[in-house]
Amino acid sequence: MYVCICKGITEKQIQEAVTSRNSNNPKEILKALGVGSDCGTCVEDAVKSLLDAHAHAPFEMKDTSNNT
Ligand code: FES
Repeated sequence: MYVCICKGITEKQIQEAVTSRNSNNPKEILKALGVGSDCGTCVEDAVKSLLDAHAHAPFEMKDTSNNT
């Protein structure tokens, strides 16, 4: 099932990205896939897919916007 129509990203692709990347930061994973970079309406569903895929290993939810 498509999560991000604009970029053509499926739930399966998000789950595969979670298991194949060394990142535990959901923002990095979504950014790498391009999810939410166009209209942005998919972000909530994409985060749910990420959390489902990563249910046994919690993400490190840190704010990377202030890197000073
Ligand atoms: S549906 Fe994902 S950016 Fe538009």
